[in-house]
Amino acid sequence: MRGTTITGTGMYVPERVLSNRDLEKLVDTTDEWIVDRTGIRERRIAAADQASSDLALIACQRALEMAGVDAKDVDQVILATTTPDRILPSCGCTLQRKLGATRAAAYDMLAACTGFVFGTGMARGLISGRMADTVLVVGVETLSRIVDYTDRNTCVLFGDGAGAALFQACEFGEGVHAVEMHSDGELGEVLEVPSGISVNPASEQTVARREHFIRMQGKKLFPFAVRSMEDATRKCCDAAGWPPEAVDLFIPHQANRRIIDGVRERLGLPENKVYVNIDRYGNTSSASIPIALDEVVRAGRLKRGDHLAIAAFGGGATWGASTMTWTMPLFTGGAPSASATDGARA
Ligand code: ACO
Repeated sequence: MRGTTITGTGMYVPERVLSNRDLEKLVDTTDEWIVDRTGIRERRIAAADQASSDLALIACQRALEMAGVDAKDVDQVILATTTPDRILPSCGCTLQRKLGATRAAAYDMLAACTGFVFGTGMARGLISGRMADTVLVVGVETLSRIVDYTDRNTCVLFGDGAGAALFQACEFGEGVHAVEMHSDGELGEVLEVPSGISVNPASEQTVARREHFIRMQGKKLFPFAVRSMEDATRKCCDAAGWPPEAVDLFIPHQANRRIIDGVRERLGLPENKVYVNIDRYGNTSSASIPIALDEVVRAGRLKRGDHLAIAAFGGGATWGASTMTWTMPLFTGGAPSASATDGARA
């Protein structure tokens, strides 16, 4: 028997900042409304020549550098996204080529904002089942490509970015203790892109009706998000044998500050145990948890033995959580090297 743990993290966000004030010029909204209702102040937007695989590449290079692992030693690349470069080839395969992960099986996972949590479950299953030793999970989004910047209900919420974590084997009983993975297709219409591939293939009509953009029933998602993240986190804490208050750091999916506060209150956690960066990046869907994780690791907020919980919900609907005992020593390595920032804009 062996455990599964994270041995390296990395993140990348594009250089361009879109502030609430910028959005005031595009739609009928205000900085005050956005901050009050969501906690978001700004988000990052990928440049026209930056694809999801480009963002993912830098995040993955940084995670591999932290772990001291060569791309050629990666067995599987699981790329979680709602915004792949294109349908064919998969974004995972494009990333594999750019990364030089020549031995790896690479593929995409569509689980919306829960993608990184599902990736954690996959990595754990693959490693504990001895189908792989080294699994790279990356959450990446260029949501700005499918956001309708004439729809104030959605365009204020989303941002672009990538976050990655390298999973490897560890002592049994350390690392990942539990992963909860859930879906309810009955809730599919609450958050959707109405047209696409086999349903309503792209046509002049679907483009004219703006059906290739995100549509969301935010009010319906809100209570579901709070309940589902609380429930999945409690189950993972139970499986780890911890009461929720034994969690040292909780990283929830960053969709709305009020949703995060709701989950935190229900779990009885103080504010200083819950990481929030939604003010700087908005909702980056599958990238939000690994971006936050890399920030806390590089800031030295996680040390060996700490109890970490993550939780997410998203379109599909999907939701889940994971608990893990952190196995890496306190990170003191500073910023990623130039070789791990290939392609990053200065
Ligand atoms: N600026 C100003 N007013 C706005 C804006 C805006 N950007 N957006 C909506 N409004 C208006 C609405 O039109 C509504 O006006 P009305 O009362 O005249 O109809 C009013 O503000 C209130 O709207 P509500 O929907 O009641 O606002 P609410 O407090 O619910 O906040 C929000 C809306 C932020 C979308 C919230 O419901 C939410 O965060 N829901 C969850 C969404 C979410 O998490 N989505 C991501 C899912 S994860 C994934 O897989 C991508």
